[in-house]
Amino acid sequence: MADLDRTRLAALLEAEQAAYTDKHPRSRALFEEATNLFGRVPMTWMNMWSGGFPLYLDHARGNRVTDVDGHSYVDFALGDTGAMAGHSPEATLAAVQRRAADRGGITTMLPTEDAQWVGAELERRFGMPVWSFTLSATDANRWAIRLARLATGRPKILVFAYCYHGSVDEAFALPGPDGKAQSRPGNVAPPVDLDLTTRVATWNDLVSVEAALANGDVAAILTEPALTNIGIVLPEPGFHEGLRELATRYGTLLMVDETHTLSAGWGGAIREWGLEPDIVVVGKSIGGGIPCGAYGLSREVAEAVTRHTEVGDADIVDVGGVGGTLAGNALSTAAMRATLGEVLTPAAFGRMTELATAYTAGVQETLDELDVPWTVTQLGARAEYRFTRPTPRTGEESAAAADEQLDAYLHLAMVNRGILMTPFHNMALMCPQTSRADVDRHTEVFREVVGALYG
Ligand SMILES: Cc1ncc(COP(=O)(O)O)c(C=O)c1O
Repeated sequence: MADLDRTRLAALLEAEQAAYTDKHPRSRALFEEATNLFGRVPMTWMNMWSGGFPLYLDHARGNRVTDVDGHSYVDFALGDTGAMAGHSPEATLAAVQRRAADRGGITTMLPTEDAQWVGAELERRFGMPVWSFTLSATDANRWAIRLARLATGRPKILVFAYCYHGSVDEAFALPGPDGKAQSRPGNVAPPVDLDLTTRVATWNDLVSVEAALANGDVAAILTEPALTNIGIVLPEPGFHEGLRELATRYGTLLMVDETHTLSAGWGGAIREWGLEPDIVVVGKSIGGGIPCGAYGLSREVAEAVTRHTEVGDADIVDVGGVGGTLAGNALSTAAMRATLGEVLTPAAFGRMTELATAYTAGVQETLDELDVPWTVTQLGARAEYRFTRPTPRTGEESAAAADEQLDAYLHLAMVNRGILMTPFHNMALMCPQTSRADVDRHTEVFREVVGALYG
C-alpha cells in the first residue's frame, strides 16, 4: 500500500494554490471587494471552496460552468445536487418563463394545478399519498419533524452520527461518552441541550438503534437511505429492513430524507431498495434549481395530525410553526412539474447511472494501479472517493478519514485542470448533459493529480 508523503503533498498544494491565484484575478478582486458581505460571500458556506477565495460565476448551462475570468469547467459539483437536472434545463426554463413572464404570478398565496401534478408524481416515485411543499429540504425536514412529534406525542428524533439533513437543530448531534446526544463541534449556539431533542445511533448498527428506541421517547428516526454527507456510506444488507422493523416495534415513525439519494434512480433509493417509510423528504434538485422542497406523509401520519388539528390543539394553517409564506408558490411548483416531468426522467437516470459507473471504474483503476489506500463508492448517478480503505461502514469511520490538506490539493488541482468537484467533499454527480468524454477527462485528470502524489 502506497504511503502518503506529506512533504510532497504540501509542495503540490502550494504549486496548485499559486496557479489558482494566478489564473483567477477577477474572482479574487471581487472577493476582496465584498466587505459588505458576511465572510465576503453571499452565503458563508461559499468559503468552503479551496483556494482562499471562491470562483465567481459568469454563466452556466448543462454541466458547464464559466467563471468571471473566462475559464470553463466540467461541473461534477452540480450545486451539491441542487443542479442534478443540469444548469438551467430547457424544460424548466420554459415553465419558469411561462409562469413568471407570460402568465405572471410568482407568489400569490393561491394554489395552482401544478402542485397537484407534482404531488401525484411524487406519489408515483416514493409512494407517499399526501404531499406538502417548502422552499428547501431543510424546511421540509423541520416541518415534518414537528408533525412527527405531534402524531406520536413523543419529544425526540433519532439521527445517525455524522448525518446531515440541512440546518435542522435536532440533527447536529454525536453520541457522547455516556450514550447521550451531544452537540457536534462547531454547532452554532444550539437553542437547547441536544440531549433534550435527540438520540443518536451509529449507521449500520441496529443494536445502537434499538438501544435508543427502547427508551420509548423517539417520535421519528430521521435518516438518509445511505449517508451522503460524510462520503457515501451505504447500508449493509438487512440494515433498512431492521430499521423498519424496529421503528414499527417501538411505535416510532420512519422518516427518510431522499434529498441526495434521489441519485439512486427515478424513485430514489426508496424505490430502488424497496424502503417503506412513514414520511419522505426531498428537495434541492426537483425544481431544476428553483428553490423548493417537499415532504410526503403516509395516510396514517396525515390522519394522526388531522386528529389534532380537528380538535384545535394544533394549527397547521397559521402560527403553528409549520409553513412559510412563499412555500408552494406558483413558480416553484411550475419548475418542479417541468423538471420531474421532462428532465429527471427514467431514461435520464439510466444514462446518468451508466456514466457514474464509468466514473467509478476510472477512479478505481488509478487507485489499483498506484495502490492508493482510498475507496470509491457509487450511488446511482453519484460517486465519491474517500481517503481510507476498506470502505467505511459507519459515519464515525468515514469521519476519521477526513483530510483537509488532501481535499484542498485535489479540489484545486481539479479546478486548475477544468473540473469542479463539490467543495464539502469529493462527490461527483452526473446530470443529463454529462458526457462520456467528461467522465474520461476526470479519469485522466484524477490519474495525473493522484499520480503526482503517489506515483
Ligand atoms: C440529505 C440532505 N437533506 C437536506 C439537506 C438540506 O438541503 P437545503 O440546504 O437545500 O435545505 C441537505 C443538504 O445538503 C442534505 O444533504
